[in-house]
Amino acid sequence: MTDRIRLDGKVALVTGAAGVIGRATITLLAARGARIVAVDCNANALQQAIAALPASAQALAQTADVTQEDQVAGYVRGALDHCGRIDVFYNNAGIEGDITPIVSTSLDAFRRVLDVNVVGVFLGMKHVLPVMLQQRAGSIINTASIAGLIGSNDIVAYTASKHAVIGMTKTAALECGDSGVRVNCVCPGLIDSRMLSAIVEGRNPGPTPVPNERVAERIPLRRLGRADEVASIVAFLASDDASYVSGSAYTVDGGRVAS
Ligand SMILES: NC(=O)c1ccc[n+]([C@@H]2O[C@H](COP(=O)([O-])OP(=O)(O)OC[C@H]3O[C@@H](n4cnc5c(N)ncnc54)[C@H](O)[C@@H]3O)[C@@H](O)[C@H]2O)c1
Repeated sequence: MTDRIRLDGKVALVTGAAGVIGRATITLLAARGARIVAVDCNANALQQAIAALPASAQALAQTADVTQEDQVAGYVRGALDHCGRIDVFYNNAGIEGDITPIVSTSLDAFRRVLDVNVVGVFLGMKHVLPVMLQQRAGSIINTASIAGLIGSNDIVAYTASKHAVIGMTKTAALECGDSGVRVNCVCPGLIDSRMLSAIVEGRNPGPTPVPNERVAERIPLRRLGRADEVASIVAFLASDDASYVSGSAYTVDGGRVAS
């Protein structure tokens, strides 16, 4: 079958690129023809992630903390110096924070999650949008979550932050108007990953891990998602096939929020 969603010649800037979803996404975007600029605060994991990419990706790794405006400006400048343009921005870095009920969540822990998941996403758009608006072309994809659509116990800051990502996505799409820049977000559900394991273990402390089948009981497709299934939607939203898609929040959750 012909692969319609090609990204040949496009430059894709990806944050959280060393994580489970970030890695799967840089791998898929590179396989579809994109050049990759990969950003993460974990320098070693980032080097490993880009080492696995094909030479055609001409990958650049940039270690940066997405909560620091000078570092965000720096990774955008680095992408422009290396590639001359930014066609796709996958604004994906995020943390789950403490897994605790509201009454035992510290203010510092709450603020830390908002700092990475909300301020980091805001700063990314603030610094990438001028580049794309000047190009009169580009696609931004933010990573929200189904926790941005429904309540989730024991992760109040995370839930608040992902609701905020959906709101910022819609606002950015409106502000971009007919500029040629589209802004969307993905809302992954329960993806087989370190982050999901941390949340499940935090909610179910004890010596015996909760089996995946039990975690998947309330998912209509009866299984966890895979990171590459999130990456597929990101690749679609990044591509010209999504030319009439903006301001959307795409669930990739096996039907979880439909149930
Ligand atoms: N895993 C899931 O089930 C799931 C579900 C819904 C949404 N998400 C979202 O998907 C995104 C990726 O999650 P993941 O599962 O790959 O998690 P992950 O922990 O594997 O990856 C996150 C990456 O972000 C990086 N990061 C964290 N803070 C940073 C900072 N301040 N600056 C730069 N980089 C930073 C980490 O080093 C890590 O490499 C997150 O936004 C997460 O909230 C994940």
